[in-house]
Amino acid sequence: MKTVRLGIAGLGHVGCGLIELVERQAELRLPGKIEIVGVSARSRSRNRPVDISGYTWFDDAATLAEHPDVDVFVELMGGSDGPAKFAVEEALKAKKHVVTANKALIAMHGQALEQLAQDNDVDLMFEAAVAGGVPVVRVLRDSLSGVAIRRVSGILNGTCNYLTTQMLDTGRSYDQVLEEAQRLGYAEADPTLDVSGMDAAHKAAILASIAFTADLDFNKVSVKGVDTVELIDLNLADRLGLRIKLITEGILTDDGVVCRVGPMAMPVDHPLARVDGALNTVRVEGDPLGAVTLTGPGAGPGPTASAVMGDVSKLFTPTARSPFGRAPHHTACSFIAAKEAERSAYFLRVKLADKPGALASLTEALAAHDVSVDKLLQESADDSDVSPVAIVTHVCSRGDIETASARVSALEASVGAPQVIPIDAVNE
Ligand code: HSE
Repeated sequence: MKTVRLGIAGLGHVGCGLIELVERQAELRLPGKIEIVGVSARSRSRNRPVDISGYTWFDDAATLAEHPDVDVFVELMGGSDGPAKFAVEEALKAKKHVVTANKALIAMHGQALEQLAQDNDVDLMFEAAVAGGVPVVRVLRDSLSGVAIRRVSGILNGTCNYLTTQMLDTGRSYDQVLEEAQRLGYAEADPTLDVSGMDAAHKAAILASIAFTADLDFNKVSVKGVDTVELIDLNLADRLGLRIKLITEGILTDDGVVCRVGPMAMPVDHPLARVDGALNTVRVEGDPLGAVTLTGPGAGPGPTASAVMGDVSKLFTPTARSPFGRAPHHTACSFIAAKEAERSAYFLRVKLADKPGALASLTEALAAHDVSVDKLLQESADDSDVSPVAIVTHVCSRGDIETASARVSALEASVGAPQVIPIDAVNE
């Protein structure tokens, strides 16, 4: 029976989940046997859910990466630069296959690392970097290579989806729910990466690059997080028949690939609206397929470790295939910035001082920029005489709603910054 020998660097939630899975490999359907040559992490003595005393310890991940007994270097340290990048580069140069769950590393340096892997005739695999346990990277790269893809959208951050779902369902505050997501192992070590949209943006950029054979340029990705979304937004949207979630999108346009992440509102019967909690989902639309949607656990040690294991199992028969599915005869396209002219309906929430003429000044400001109201909902003022107003607009350009929102923000009656969230009208 063939044996694949791993060096595992990074023993956080996912690293420990992987060790557990290796120890339970008799229950799995692997093509051969997996051994662990050694492990490495920042701290050897930290309390962990698995006993690592039986594994050879390496203080330095890069030394483990190039160890002669290692066939596959598994990088679970995280971070786009620094020790993770260095160790992966050393592994590839030493002709070791690399499996990583590191979305930041792949989003920022994936195509340089792809080149290094190809130069050294080894595989670089990162199924676990996008959507945790949902198998989407190789599905997009291989199974859907016969589809001309138009759009890849999804929910790619379990923490943010957990936040928006739980806040709406339980009325708990943003901070309480975020703390729970950290405890459950969904959130990154630095949860700012989750709530700022950055984690989802890394994943969206990787998917867009694969789907459209695009040169990954992370600087062109537009990123907005859920850190500005308030409970009142979720509640008012709900009363208007909408769900607000952090949505990722990669779209092929005539000029290139637009990739973005941000809160989006959608009707409750929209396919993405029903994906709740820490679940992730990816929806691929193209010809002649139509649409396919993959949904499942996108965060947490078990699901993510299972995706790492799936990559490791492929390495019993390495292919040295481009991890992004690129080939010399493909026409590469570029990432481009989102355009102001793009059109959508919007959910707009404004807090108004409860006094005569406040609402009129709001609708006048919108009308001045050609933003027309489709639905409007106003709540009674709270103790501080501030009244939240939610508006669903007719379709308008992003440029117009942004200028109108700046004008609304400057109104005497307006309290705090307005919330502006595009509405995805796709129904199924
Ligand atoms: N922090 C990530 C999430 C984990 O919440 O989705 C998987 O990348």
